[in-house]
Amino acid sequence: MATFYILLGAPGAGKGTQAKNLSAALKLPHISSGEIFRENIAAGTELGKAVNEYISRGDLVPDDITNAMIRERLGREDCAEGAILDGFPRTMAQAQALAHDLHELDSHVSAVLSIDVPEDVLVSRLSGRWMCREKGHVYHDVLNPPCEPGVCDTDGSELYQREDDKPETVAARIQVYLSQTAPLIEHFEELGLLHRVNGDQEIEVVTESLQRAIAERKP
Ligand code: AP5
Ligand code: MG
Repeated sequence: MATFYILLGAPGAGKGTQAKNLSAALKLPHISSGEIFRENIAAGTELGKAVNEYISRGDLVPDDITNAMIRERLGREDCAEGAILDGFPRTMAQAQALAHDLHELDSHVSAVLSIDVPEDVLVSRLSGRWMCREKGHVYHDVLNPPCEPGVCDTDGSELYQREDDKPETVAARIQVYLSQTAPLIEHFEELGLLHRVNGDQEIEVVTESLQRAIAERKP
């Protein structure tokens, strides 16, 4: 049976960082809705044009656009054994669409991992974040610096700062998380799928906690 894991957490909680580690450890593709949108914006596709304004404001992209994009991605061959979902679902309608799509694929959500981090830590993490252009590897100029400034350790591509990491947009994204995404924690808890992990620890310690939660999940 394929295994699909959801990483839930506020902007800056470490979803992308941890998804990369789990993807390598579990040999499952890392699917980040935010990364797919950013790739489309950079490539100037129709999808990129449709979502750019929402993302620059820190708002959520409408559910119909997001759900269609994820449905297409989950249908690809590399998801046959499952995937690590980073940043999706983010609304109740998306959670319902995901359950439906996985059911169509004869599967279901295996576990939901909520990465909990205090708000002041989120803000300082996002203000120092750098991302690689090639694969979205994540760094921080103080907390998690690359060996050579401006260059990705893994693939040598250029590092850049995200347009939506400006302080006013970060504040908007955190508010959107609290009002629209945080209610999913209770939803997945009721389904018996939720595991909470303290994200305010060293990156490797958080990865170990997530792996323990996955190992302890009910079959
Ligand atoms: P998205 O790209 O998903 O952004 P986000 O949720 O705001 O989360 P971030 O990527 O900012 O943070 P993260 O949790 O991945 O943290 P990271 O690992 O980078 O979405 C962007 C936008 O796209 C949304 O605002 C929305 O408009 C749209 N969108 C996306 N999905 C959508 C959906 N499903 N529906 C509708 N719209 C959608 O780490 C942050 C920093 O902290 C890094 O510098 C890192 O090095 C550092 N760090 C990480 N962990 C640690 C640690 N343990 N200790 C110290 N430093 C750490
Ligand atoms: Mg991310």
